[in-house]
Amino acid sequence: MTGVAKAVAHSNIALAKYWGKADRARNLTAVPSLSLTLATLRTVTSVRFDSSLPDDEFSLAGALMGGRPLLRVSKLLDNVRAQRGFDTRARVESVNDFPTAAGLASSASGFAALAMAATRAAGLETTPEQVSALARAASASAARSVFGGYVALAARGEHAERVASGEDFPLQMLIAVTAVGPKGTASTDGMTHTQRTSPYYAAWVEAAPALYAEVRRAVETADFDALGPALEHSALAMHASMLAARPALIYFAPATLRVMECVRAFRGRGGRAYFTMDAGPHVKVLVELGAAAELELELGKLEGVTEVLRTGAGPDAYWVDP
Ligand code: DP6
Repeated sequence: MTGVAKAVAHSNIALAKYWGKADRARNLTAVPSLSLTLATLRTVTSVRFDSSLPDDEFSLAGALMGGRPLLRVSKLLDNVRAQRGFDTRARVESVNDFPTAAGLASSASGFAALAMAATRAAGLETTPEQVSALARAASASAARSVFGGYVALAARGEHAERVASGEDFPLQMLIAVTAVGPKGTASTDGMTHTQRTSPYYAAWVEAAPALYAEVRRAVETADFDALGPALEHSALAMHASMLAARPALIYFAPATLRVMECVRAFRGRGGRAYFTMDAGPHVKVLVELGAAAELELELGKLEGVTEVLRTGAGPDAYWVDP
């Protein structure tokens, strides 16, 4: 055991969405999902096991964290400690290379980087699948960030798997940042609330596998015209289940709709671009390489859009020198 390790994981955006848990205790998902790992938006995390520490410590961008964020980190470390059979506490330092304040901070890259660094620091011999399973238990979308390119996680899946590389199907993603500030309701709480109160949750769970199959087929055949409509439908069907929750979960800001409208108008003029959104007001737009610069400019001019980030497909999570 080296006791210390550092890892980088890239964020991912689901094209076929995960929303809902089949097993809350084990954090197994109710529906299959498929995502694109992004080249930008990374988390760098170092883990140092240190026998002089009375408790785990977790800092994000230099600020010491307590409460739920620390508990989630400790839970993942407990899993690693149990597998390795020791009890040493750890110091975890995490930095996102994207504006956390913009509410883009995703648990996906965070827990994938933590799972990578913690297993290595503990001296565990692991496969990427085992790291993905460890990350999934902390946050299901994190399972997918262990792999680069297009990545799938089956319903009740233990770990994610790569479906295609970024080079197989080169596309760009534009992230229209529509509001500044941390997001409203965290995904975990939002999906539990939807499961408990939305009459449309059951319909979402029933519809999601066919949508996933459509997205997966389109990715495997690199068919953008088939992928686009399916990914928009997946996002909107997921949001429909949230909107029908009581009280409603509304992640849309006025600018969210402006971006969607702009993307639809772009298509009306023959452009090829499709939107998706998660548990926050920002809109992510998948666009073919040749049209990305033009659409990026257009989105940047919209009222309420504070920033547009542009990225392509990202790599597997990896270790760096601590
Ligand atoms: C809307 O993976 O953050 O981004 O497993 O409870 O941590 P937990 O949830 P999380 O949910 C992601 C939801 C989503 C869609 C997706 O990424 O598939």
